[in-house]
Amino acid sequence: MGSPRNGFSYTAAVAANLVFITGGSSGIGAAMARVVPYSDVRVINISRRGLKGYDHFEADLSDPAAWRGVGDLFAREIKDFAGERIVFVHSAGTLQPIGFAGEVPTDAYTRQVLLDSASPQVLGDAFLHAARETRAECHIVMISSGAAFTVFEGWSAYCAGKAAMDQWVRTAGAEQARRGGRCRLLSVAPGIVETAMQREIRAASSEDFPSVEMFVGIHEKDQGRDPEEAAREIWSLLERELENGAVVDLYVPAD
Ligand SMILES: NC(=O)c1ccc[n+]([C@@H]2O[C@H](COP(=O)([O-])OP(=O)(O)OC[C@H]3O[C@@H](n4cnc5c(N)ncnc54)[C@H](OP(=O)(O)O)[C@@H]3O)[C@@H](O)[C@H]2O)c1
Repeated sequence: MGSPRNGFSYTAAVAANLVFITGGSSGIGAAMARVVPYSDVRVINISRRGLKGYDHFEADLSDPAAWRGVGDLFAREIKDFAGERIVFVHSAGTLQPIGFAGEVPTDAYTRQVLLDSASPQVLGDAFLHAARETRAECHIVMISSGAAFTVFEGWSAYCAGKAAMDQWVRTAGAEQARRGGRCRLLSVAPGIVETAMQREIRAASSEDFPSVEMFVGIHEKDQGRDPEEAAREIWSLLERELENGAVVDLYVPAD
């Protein structure tokens, strides 16, 4: 049985597809759960809040103590899994605290670094360990951002975290290719997607986030993407013959 703290119980795996989604409680992660393209699938959301209708493993991923529990979840579920395909989508991320390095609270900045920079690597490594125990096809999909290669003042830990995520995917993807490529890795920048995170961006002051007006303008022109449309496009990438460790940018600038 699972930890009584989060009430998660480990049921026998019977579905043909197993999908883990961090940040499945909201926004892009929730949309990834709702439009998952496999009919016979079990989805496990890993986040602080649950998503109604889906299994929930409660974890605060800005706390390194929680990462081992997620690794144990991967190991247990994957060892017992007899289906065809396992996907790990890492969508959990935060922009908070928005503001300049050296000006924002140190504790909150530290939690952001742990969630945005460290958790993708540590959880990705835990998934790859667990994936060695299965013959199923395995995928890792990291939800990245154009902030990985664009300077946005006020988002230093977020930009650095997404750059680290992309480079981890490139490197671990090349390693998987060298070992025969059973696990395929992909990092995807989804473009500007209308979620709670976009509302947080628009609520920032120009003092803390000088580019705020650009995001307000995109919203006013209704140029943000629908989360489910973005999620469908992300799922469709798994059907393409991309290089292992590919980093894909779905942002399409408006005319
Ligand atoms: N929206 C965009 O335009 C956009 C663009 C580029 C990239 N992205 C990326 O897309 C991903 C999803 O963002 P979103 O736009 O869907 O935002 P969102 O609606 O605010 O969702 C954020 C998700 O991250 C989870 N999360 C945050 N802090 C967490 C923590 N400490 N522990 C565990 N989970 C945590 C939240 O779950 P709980 O609160 O339940 O823990 C929530 O499910 C992020 O990685 C973001 O960087 C978004």
